[in-house]
Amino acid sequence: MVEKSSGEGHGNAEYQWNAFDSEAYFQHYYGEPHPDDDLVIRVAVDALRRASAAGNALDVVDVGTGPNLIPFFCTLPRARRLTAWEYAATNVAWLRAELENDDMRPQWRHFWRVAREAYGPGWGLPENPIPLLREKCVVTQGSVFDLPARSWDAATMFFCAESITERQDEFEAACATFARSVRPGGMLAAAFLVRSEGYVVADRPFPVLKLSPETIERVFRHHADAVDARLIGIVDREIRSGYSGFIFLTGTAR
Ligand SMILES: C[S@@+](CC[C@H](N)C(=O)[O-])C[C@H]1O[C@@H](n2cnc3c(N)ncnc32)[C@H](O)[C@@H]1O
Repeated sequence: MVEKSSGEGHGNAEYQWNAFDSEAYFQHYYGEPHPDDDLVIRVAVDALRRASAAGNALDVVDVGTGPNLIPFFCTLPRARRLTAWEYAATNVAWLRAELENDDMRPQWRHFWRVAREAYGPGWGLPENPIPLLREKCVVTQGSVFDLPARSWDAATMFFCAESITERQDEFEAACATFARSVRPGGMLAAAFLVRSEGYVVADRPFPVLKLSPETIERVFRHHADAVDARLIGIVDREIRSGYSGFIFLTGTAR
């Protein structure tokens, strides 16, 4: 795959993140759960189950959480604290409001059931995770480029570094700060879009970089050990705006 040269394309600062329509994004991407969403949850739970010694409660950050509780559902059983590190003010407000509401949307009931099933028995997981999430979650407004180094035990990132810029150098910088935000030996897990031409939220265009597993592995090998990136759920058509499958990365922070 031909990579873009470093500074080519529109950068992160050129998009109107504070006009990001959170509810429109939620409805478009998660309004009707798709088997690929369930697959993302299963591979993420599989990585988290293996992260660090079983029984260790982890301090976890999710980067670019957006209007999406799936990252929390995947990490909640392993976490003593969860930080959502999200840039758009609209998404920060949406996440905080969502965590105040104990009446789970049907979509959250579905995705939480998938996460619970992926963990399997013995975890004592509640029917409704929202009250526990409220206790453990901190929603912070911040940019991936400003993540503090070596601050968490594990980090997750779902469709963020490649979906915030068209520039290869910014993508690599975002991956670097993501990987370095975790203490040495900690777990990294991230999902990336493949073969996307960008995405549209409420008629506003947002960027996506085209990536291959090889590119992702090359970028992460600078910052992590045991790097593994693989194509999952690839189909020949676009399922939703900008989405036709994903690459899942795991690694150990160095
Ligand atoms: C494609 S959305 C992914 C949202 C969610 N993680 C998901 O899986 O559906 C990209 C997210 O990255 C956020 N974002 C944009 N620029 C960012 C930055 N500089 N730092 C952190 N997040 C950013 C957006 O606000 C948005 O929530």
